[in-house]
Amino acid sequence: MKKVLVLYYSQSGQLENVMDRIVAPLLKSDDIECDYRQIKPVNPYPYPWPFYRFFNTFPEAVNLNGCEVEPITVKREYDLIVLGYTVWFLSPSIPVAGFLKSEQAQRLFKDKPVVTVIACRDMWLIAQEKMKALLDDLGARLIDNVVMVDQGKSLYTFVTTPRWLLTGKKDAFWFFPKAGVPEAAIAASLRFGERLAEALRKGEEQCRAPMLRNLGAVNVNGKLIASERIAHRSFLIWSKLIKKAGEPDSKGRNIVITIYAVFLLTLILTVVPLNLLIRKLIYPFRKNTIDKAVTYYEQPSGR
Ligand SMILES: Cc1cc2nc3c(=O)[nH]c(=O)nc-3n(C[C@H](O)[C@H](O)[C@H](O)COP(=O)(O)O)c2cc1C
Repeated sequence: MKKVLVLYYSQSGQLENVMDRIVAPLLKSDDIECDYRQIKPVNPYPYPWPFYRFFNTFPEAVNLNGCEVEPITVKREYDLIVLGYTVWFLSPSIPVAGFLKSEQAQRLFKDKPVVTVIACRDMWLIAQEKMKALLDDLGARLIDNVVMVDQGKSLYTFVTTPRWLLTGKKDAFWFFPKAGVPEAAIAASLRFGERLAEALRKGEEQCRAPMLRNLGAVNVNGKLIASERIAHRSFLIWSKLIKKAGEPDSKGRNIVITIYAVFLLTLILTVVPLNLLIRKLIYPFRKNTIDKAVTYYEQPSGR
């Protein structure tokens, strides 16, 4: 009997819907015992988010400070851990970072093969690099990664995703598409669960090789790589400034957050489209370098 632990943290239920599909074949299988658990912060985060609460999480998310989470009812040992997480400011969400820094995670993850599942807007590359470091610290082995991103072009999701997170409204409006991951993609994530169930029956999780190859698990948009790296550098600087300005929700911090929000909006309206255009123009000349980076970020599962 194979034992699988599936963990996730989801606010609106979007990532939970993805995990439900992936976990279904594991729960149905007679030769797999699957524990399906939600990570719960001791002090829950709001959804939809009040504006200042949303940006107040920024420095702690970027610096992987984590938060206190409730202990999870688990067995002692698992053959495989599937970890679903969302991205907050180019980092694994604070509750997930908090859990991975807990003593319980140290016991559970040591020497264990891990499959990560991400559902986010479309900027997850740096978050997954941070996730790799967190898993390394725990002595775990990342063997697969599945990524789902919000529908619509990057410039549109800069509007649709924050609108959804700050108001709870997901519907299409004007020329903008519906917010979030397409429902068809969520439904189709069943294939990952089916493949994992089959692989577990064959004992493939014990090999170091990925189990989810050739299933379209990850599709990196090469034109977004540079934007994400630039954004990350600016996030490191701004997170220090915001942290220095005061404790979460203090007046000092909220003043710097206001300045930052105006800076970010200006950036999104000017530098981001310009950068996307420049990347498009120089793509033919930098094709080899970008293709190499795409292959790197698509590991271990690939397209
Ligand atoms: C505070 C915060 C910051 C976020 N930052 C990012 C980000 O940097 N990149 C990204 O692709 N998505 C980002 N998102 C979107 C989430 O990854 C995710 O798609 C959304 O919160 C819905 O997930 P849910 O299943 O928890 O409802 C952010 C969401 C929140 C709440």
